[in-house]
Amino acid sequence: MSATVLGNGDSGPGDRPPIPEEIAELTDPSNRIDPYPLLNKLRDRSPYSPFDGLVVVGRHAQTSEVLRDPTMSAARDKATISPTARGPRTRNFLHLDPPEHTRYRRLVSGAFARRKMESLAPQIRENATELLRSGAASGTIDVIEDLAYPLPLRMICELLGVPYEDRDRIKDWSAILAESLDPQFGASAGRMTRETARARAAFVGYFRDLVELRRAEPREDLISHLLQAEVDGEQLDDSDILATCVLLLNAGHETTANLIGNAILALLRHPEQYERLRADPTLAAATVEEVLRYDAPVQMTARVARQPGTIGDTELRPGDTILLLIGAANRDPDVYPDPARFDIDRVHGTPHLAFSAGAHFCLGAPLARLEATIALELFGTLMREPRLRPDGVAYKPNLNLRGLARLPVDVDGVGSR
Ligand code: HEM
Repeated sequence: MSATVLGNGDSGPGDRPPIPEEIAELTDPSNRIDPYPLLNKLRDRSPYSPFDGLVVVGRHAQTSEVLRDPTMSAARDKATISPTARGPRTRNFLHLDPPEHTRYRRLVSGAFARRKMESLAPQIRENATELLRSGAASGTIDVIEDLAYPLPLRMICELLGVPYEDRDRIKDWSAILAESLDPQFGASAGRMTRETARARAAFVGYFRDLVELRRAEPREDLISHLLQAEVDGEQLDDSDILATCVLLLNAGHETTANLIGNAILALLRHPEQYERLRADPTLAAATVEEVLRYDAPVQMTARVARQPGTIGDTELRPGDTILLLIGAANRDPDVYPDPARFDIDRVHGTPHLAFSAGAHFCLGAPLARLEATIALELFGTLMREPRLRPDGVAYKPNLNLRGLARLPVDVDGVGSR
């Protein structure tokens, strides 16, 4: 979810640092189908600095260490390589550091606590059942359009108090913001700037109207809660509320949609594992953990060094951006034996980093885990003889928020629970 801009979109092409081949390759759309050979190479070479201002880290231990290190900042405006290539950002708490970060996070953390999320299980189950039944009615279900995308979107809309009827607009803006989280190098730097700024402004404008409605007539939803919340005895100003709304809505559905899609693709490509899950739906939660490791829905994040230091033998200067390759760390052979093997029975000794670590550990992890677990359980129970249509499978253009655009599956009807 974090934003990473590499290369300098504000300067002329001549000012941009030369982009080493392996880094430029990362952004090549032809690597979306299987980015792991390249990520493995980058991890094995890391830590290293491909050019001034950037340090790449992909080993599990070092990635985890940087994420937990209080001297590393999540505020991208502290970076020497321009974080502004995509235009003005909203000030959401993903990019704040403690103590400010802690205060803002605390305002919403209760609303996403595990116990609270568990109480949503019946509703998630009901929604997922309905989506699967109607999606499969024609004999072919597009797992993304019919299940993986609408399920988390419905739930986060409901929690925030956003009308689900507005989903088409939300979907368009979110897709642009999701793509804008990709690193932007050399020629591609700044490509998304105007489009991103427009989508962000439209999103904020949308929430501004909704906030006014809730101010006039509060409800039992998160927007109304934020309007009443106080930080250090003061109410939040509107721009903080709007930034938090955009963060929660986006983070709350794009990533989980990718998790559900990546999971069903991995299962259908490993029929023996799918069969194990189908025979024993209690394996769904373990399957979700293995998918988070094996094909992380958020592939990378970044931190900015505040102090001089080192990572391994690589020197850090204040303002250096540290690109953290979560997808590579999750396949580090020093931590996971035979890391490229998808194995739902894998015993996870060391936690994967799919939800990050440290102060910014994903706030929505309990919700994402619950939605994906229920989706997998029900897919296994309800879909009769699912068969992947390999020629229809397509990835979204995103590198960072890794997920499918289409996942068509033929089925012989719908079973009963
Ligand atoms: C599979 C689904 C998800 C994945 C893989 C994921 C991943 C992440 C990651 C990697 C971060 C931290 C980035 C960093 O350290 O720089 C993060 C933060 C965050 N996530 Fe998620 N996320 C998911 C679902 C959700 C959901 C459902 C919500 C619902 C609200 C959510 C809300 C947030 C928020 C608010 C933060 C910022 C936390 C902070 O800065 O303190 N995420 N997520």
